[in-house]
Amino acid sequence: MPILYANEYPRALPLVNESHIRQTAEILLALTGRTESELSILLVDDMRMSELNNTWRHKDGPTNVLAFSLTEGEDLVMAGNLLGDIVISIDTAAREAAKEKSSLHQCLDLLLVHGFLHLIGYEHEKSDAEAERMTKKERDMLQQLKTKRSEPMIRLAVNVDHVATLREARGIREPDPVLAAGICELAGAEGIVVHLREDRRHIQDRDVRLLRQTVKTKLNLEMGANSEIIKLALDVKPDMVTLVPEKRKELTTEGGLNVIGQKKKLKDVIRQMNDAGIPVSLFIDPDPGQIAAAGTIGATFVEIHTGRYSDASREEEREHEFALIAAAAEKAFEAGLRVNAGHGLNYVNTTRVASLASIEELSIGHAIMTRAIYVGLDQAVREMLALMT
Ligand code: PXP
Repeated sequence: MPILYANEYPRALPLVNESHIRQTAEILLALTGRTESELSILLVDDMRMSELNNTWRHKDGPTNVLAFSLTEGEDLVMAGNLLGDIVISIDTAAREAAKEKSSLHQCLDLLLVHGFLHLIGYEHEKSDAEAERMTKKERDMLQQLKTKRSEPMIRLAVNVDHVATLREARGIREPDPVLAAGICELAGAEGIVVHLREDRRHIQDRDVRLLRQTVKTKLNLEMGANSEIIKLALDVKPDMVTLVPEKRKELTTEGGLNVIGQKKKLKDVIRQMNDAGIPVSLFIDPDPGQIAAAGTIGATFVEIHTGRYSDASREEEREHEFALIAAAAEKAFEAGLRVNAGHGLNYVNTTRVASLASIEELSIGHAIMTRAIYVGLDQAVREMLALMT
């Protein structure tokens, strides 16, 4: 069910999350049994909306949403599977969201549902009875949309670094992170993560190159913004890279990136990666300032550092850290970033993080590898997946 999405909003703000809009449209098509149909969505500003409103409805000023059906009248033959266009004014939507004290994305959902119902034949201007029928259907669909969205869609990406840690402890060939990655994928992991460190203490160049050939899901290369590793990444072309701060003496990645303090450098690395078709994620603490900075330098994703939440020993501290993660995920999502999270997650603390609607993917390594020693890797991955759904 292709969604034709075009954002013609001429200014930078307010930001909208394309994947949220696409997902809403896909759910609406699925809910009404129209999975074969196509839907076009166009985002504009008030000025463009006023022009359209004037041309097509002979009305002055902007409106929030217009729907142009292609399944009625003469266009039917030409339209193929295209149901029609929904045009939304982001300026009006943002004003309405502020007035209703809701988020921009909640308002966009409402407008998409309204426009979609017009496309499939509802018309509130026909009569009072028809207006009532449409309002009721709108309410039902918003409820169904909410239920669908709350179904787990989060993915697990397994970090296999510590398979290589064990191998390097002996300096021989076993165990092999490449084989381990295949087992994780067979067990249901939807991504494999490896951190190629400057000191090559676990993952080696050979692992990254072989994984590029064998990973069937998604290979995420974690790396410091170091010129030698950047060169390798541009050559290997993983499905995405996650930039992390790296200190030689640390046991594991200790904190998030200071995006605010090195915007120029990170922007340059992101540009190089994007030019090679590689999306970039920035590993950052759940800090609103860092999230805002990540949104301005071209990152596609942020990965929110869950280490302090995972390490918290007192309940009060844990609650505080969880609230920071939840707020950071929401802020990043609203800023149009895709959101992942990870570090220190285990079989006790993951479910809560997995329940946050704006997080797409969790990156988990140490806890899964530890459990794998006792129950086997396949089972360890399946048990983690069960906790996330
Ligand atoms: N995400 C990032 C950016 C990391 O550096 C790590 C550790 O390698 C992880 C996730 C996974 O953390 P853990 O091994 O504690 O699950």
